[in-house]
Amino acid sequence: MSLDTEKRLAAEAAARFVEDGMLVGLGTGSTVAYLLPALAARALDLRCIATSPDTEQAARELGLKVESFHGTDAAPRLDIAIDGADQVSPSGWLMKGGGAAHTREKVVAAAADRFVVIVSSDKLVERLTPPVPLELLAYGLAATLRHIGDVMLRDVPRSPDGGVIADYRGDFDDPGELAARLSATVGVVEHGLFPAAMVSDVVVARGEQIEIRNLR
Ligand code: A5P
Repeated sequence: MSLDTEKRLAAEAAARFVEDGMLVGLGTGSTVAYLLPALAARALDLRCIATSPDTEQAARELGLKVESFHGTDAAPRLDIAIDGADQVSPSGWLMKGGGAAHTREKVVAAAADRFVVIVSSDKLVERLTPPVPLELLAYGLAATLRHIGDVMLRDVPRSPDGGVIADYRGDFDDPGELAARLSATVGVVEHGLFPAAMVSDVVVARGEQIEIRNLR
């Protein structure tokens, strides 16, 4: 069975967690691309928050209602957010940001009552490994890069919020320690390490089997 089929099966399983009337956070990436039609096919009365312009456009084209998450008028909390991941550790820590959307993805995940991660089986790893995606403030960029150390700018457009995308390449044993160091570095807007405490469920497709790991 192909990894694309696993992505689709994980996404379709997670779409079944969504209930009528919910405010739903939509992640970004090739796995979420399977979630959107699965959600639209349920024909529920939903409102959605998109974590990237690509997701917003794809969701709207499928007839999903997408609201802004900017400013003080936006909803302060979501019922559920569903997103993919680049790596999932045995304890539930995630590496995200392969598509450079990790800042908005983390904001949406943190605002959701339930954060569901959907992955094909290849995303399960023994331990998280570099690179760690970063979004950096353009102002003072050279100084921020010096503070971070082993970092490389990614040759991609800026984030929708104007952030510069880069990757931390240093090795690490403890994701919590590195996450704390990166979060404490002035000029780092956000990094791609998501703590297990943020994750409610991991839905993994392995062949035709779906495994749902509840972390809460
Ligand atoms: C976007 O920046 C990422 O965090 C994605 O959510 C992550 O890379 C998973 O993407 P795929 O579903 O395409 O593997």
